[in-house]
Amino acid sequence: MSELRTDRLVLREWRASDLAPWAAMNADPVVREYFPEVLTREQSEASAALFQADLVRRGWGWWAVEVIATGEFIGFTGLDPVEDGMPFAGVEAGWRLARPAWGHGYATEAARAVVTHAFEELGLDEVLAVTAATHLRSRAVMRRLGMTHDPADDFDDPDVPEGPLRRSVVYRLRAGSPRPAVPAVR
Ligand SMILES: CC(C)(COP(=O)(O)OP(=O)(O)OC[C@H]1O[C@@H](n2cnc3c(N)ncnc32)[C@H](O)[C@@H]1OP(=O)(O)O)[C@@H](O)C(=O)NCCC(=O)NCCS
Repeated sequence: MSELRTDRLVLREWRASDLAPWAAMNADPVVREYFPEVLTREQSEASAALFQADLVRRGWGWWAVEVIATGEFIGFTGLDPVEDGMPFAGVEAGWRLARPAWGHGYATEAARAVVTHAFEELGLDEVLAVTAATHLRSRAVMRRLGMTHDPADDFDDPDVPEGPLRRSVVYRLRAGSPRPAVPAVR
């Protein structure tokens, strides 16, 4: 079974009970602020099925994230190959949490486990992360992971319609490069 653990979280396969909170967070315009649109229930269910199929087939991907202390599903964190048509290739890390789960350090904690898995278990040389240039919260996660941004990599995302979300940034982390210490639990 594909599962990663941190102090407070388990990154695990998807369950039927995740579907309602997953659909609710994807219907939240604040969670979807940096995406072109909110998702319907059908779109959310289809994405969870795809994520689960990837985890079963390949052993890694977009894991469902659960808070160990409460058993609550809070979103996903994981890895996926960069889509075709982007001006770069590789494996990207990503994260999406329900609003009540923001501000607890969960995204960074989950992403640290994912990046460690990418380097130590999957043997990747580099992990990327991609977001809208204006998405400061996501960029802060990338910086906390020790990822670096080169403005020469900035690009217009071909999958995003013309507008303020199109300009995008790429952050990179090489295997073996320095990674900031985990902050003390508050
Ligand atoms: C992007 C996203 C995951 C970032 O969430 P986040 O809560 O800002 O990031 P983290 O989980 O790493 O939490 C960091 C915050 O928790 C605080 N925190 C509280 N307790 C903490 C603890 N025990 N340990 C670490 N940090 C803690 C940190 O100080 C920081 O606060 P700040 O934002 O005021 O500086 C979230 O905004 C999200 O899901 N957005 C919608 C989906 C999305 O856009 N995804 C990215 C697409 S590219």
